[in-house]
Amino acid sequence: MSDAKKILVRARVNGEAREAEVEPRTLLVEFLREHLNLTGTHVGCDTSYCGACTVILNGRTVKSCTLFAPMAEGGEITTVEGLAKGGKLHAIQEAFAECHGLQCGYCTPGLLLATLQLLRKHPRPTDAQIRKGIAGNTCRCTGYQNVFKSIRMASAEMEKR
Ligand code: FES
Ligand code: FES
Repeated sequence: MSDAKKILVRARVNGEAREAEVEPRTLLVEFLREHLNLTGTHVGCDTSYCGACTVILNGRTVKSCTLFAPMAEGGEITTVEGLAKGGKLHAIQEAFAECHGLQCGYCTPGLLLATLQLLRKHPRPTDAQIRKGIAGNTCRCTGYQNVFKSIRMASAEMEKR
């Protein structure tokens, strides 16, 4: 057990004010999972490669294993738990379910958030834009064809809403 001095980290997470006292070396992903109990954000590697830990911080996708929690102080964070509203899945979640954009599902939270960010930037993305948008997210089940289909369906659905 470390006796490092703890510091207070406050952020708006999925629209709610949240805070926790953490050691300065605490990673953002640990802050979310272990201090705020938002365990939908996954840890899939220890090399900053896989993207399972992807969240949106201040309007940009970030790999939350690559930032210290205090770096998110005062920030606005969206995690996978923030996608569904009032018990209704987000169009992106529905599309991934419908098009089998997941197999084991471990990479899915990160891919959903990468997709949200991609579709905010490019509501009707080209194949190249999709590839670039999810380039930081690795699916070990190699279901990329269905991920592409899911993103296309989400794009069409979100355009209707
Ligand atoms: S856990 Fe793999 S990139 Fe963050
Ligand atoms: S669905 Fe298994 S890692 Fe992507």
